[in-house]
Amino acid sequence: MYTLGIETSCDETSCAVLYNRKVLSNVTISSLKEHAKYGGVVPEIATRAHLRNINVVTREAVKKAGLAFKKIDLITVTANPGLIGALLVGFNYAKSLALSLNKPFIGVNHLYAHIFSSFLDRTEPITFPFLGVVLSGGHSDIYLIKDFDKIKVIGKATDDACGEVYDKIARAFGMGYPGGKVIDDMFDTRYKDTIPFKCGRRGFDLSFSGIKTAVLYKGKEFSSDLRLTEIDRISILSSFQNAVVNTIIKVVSDASGKYNIRHLVFGGGVLANKYLRMRLHDEFSSFKLDLPPLKYTGDNAAMVAGLGFCLYNKKGFVSKVSLKAKAR
Ligand code: KG4
Ligand code: ZN
Repeated sequence: MYTLGIETSCDETSCAVLYNRKVLSNVTISSLKEHAKYGGVVPEIATRAHLRNINVVTREAVKKAGLAFKKIDLITVTANPGLIGALLVGFNYAKSLALSLNKPFIGVNHLYAHIFSSFLDRTEPITFPFLGVVLSGGHSDIYLIKDFDKIKVIGKATDDACGEVYDKIARAFGMGYPGGKVIDDMFDTRYKDTIPFKCGRRGFDLSFSGIKTAVLYKGKEFSSDLRLTEIDRISILSSFQNAVVNTIIKVVSDASGKYNIRHLVFGGGVLANKYLRMRLHDEFSSFKLDLPPLKYTGDNAAMVAGLGFCLYNKKGFVSKVSLKAKAR
C-alpha cells in the first residue's frame, strides 16, 4: 500500500511517499540556516517556514513517487512531541488531506518514528522485542519495545539531551550551530583520553548537563574567553565525545543485560556521528544491531510514514479526526 507521511515537529518540513516500507520519495526543506545566527531553533521562524514549504514538499514528494494523490492509501503525520506551532502546520495539513481524499489518517510519535528509520527500505520482517535508543536534539531515551504499540520508556535524559549538549558546547566555543557535525568532524582519536570527562547517570537515565559545564570550565582554564589553540580545542572536544559515547555504550549494555535483550535499534540525529557508529559496531558486534542509514538520521517524513504504515497494516490503528497535536 502507498503511505504519505508528513513531518514538521522542528525545523525540517518533510513529506515522503512509501510503498509498504520502501521509500519512493522523501522531500525535505530545512529552515536550519535561518536559525543558525540565533544558535538554536526559533519556534516562530520554524513555524513560518513550515507554512511556506508544506505544500511545496508534499506536491514534490507525490510527483517524485510518480503517483496521483488519489492513489495514496494512508496519510500519517507527526502528532507529538515537538514545537507546538511547527507541529500544528503539518498536523492540520495532513488531517485536511486525509479528509479531502477520504483516506485513513494516523498521528504518530516522532521519537518512535526515529527508531523506525532503521527499518526503511528493508524487506525482512521486524522482530520483537528490542531496545530502542533515540539520541536527538531534544531527547536521549531508551525504550523496551515489545511490539509496535507496546513501548515502555526505561531511560531518558534528565536534563540536556545528547544532541543539545553538542549544540550548546559548539555554540560556547564559537563553532556555530548545529554543533554535532562540527564536533564530530573535529574529533581525533589520538586525543580522546586527554581529559577524563564523565557523564551523569542514574539507572538508565542520562544526565549531560554536568559534562557540558565541565567542558566549558576546562575550556576557560585554557583560555578565559574560550579562544583556544587548535590542539586544546581538539583535546577537549575529543575527550568530551569519547566520554559521551562511552556512557551511551555502558548504559545500553547494562539495559540489555537487565532485560536480557540482544537486539538494539538506534535512531535520531546524533546517529550521524561517525565515532559513535564505529564504536556501536565494535561493542555490539555479537548483537543484532540496527542503525539508521545516514540519510534518515535527521528529521524526515519517511520514518513517520513507515511507522504509520506498520501501525495501520499490522495493528489496524487509525486516529480519530479529533486527535490533537501535543508538544509533549
Ligand atoms: O533527530 P534530530 O535531527 O532532531 C531532533 O528531533 O532533535 O537531531 C538533531 C541533533 C542536533 O542536536 C545535532 O547537533 C545532532 O542531532 N547531530 C549530531 C551529529 N549530526 C547531528 N550529533 C553528533 N554528531 C553528529 N554527526
Ligand atoms: Zn527528531
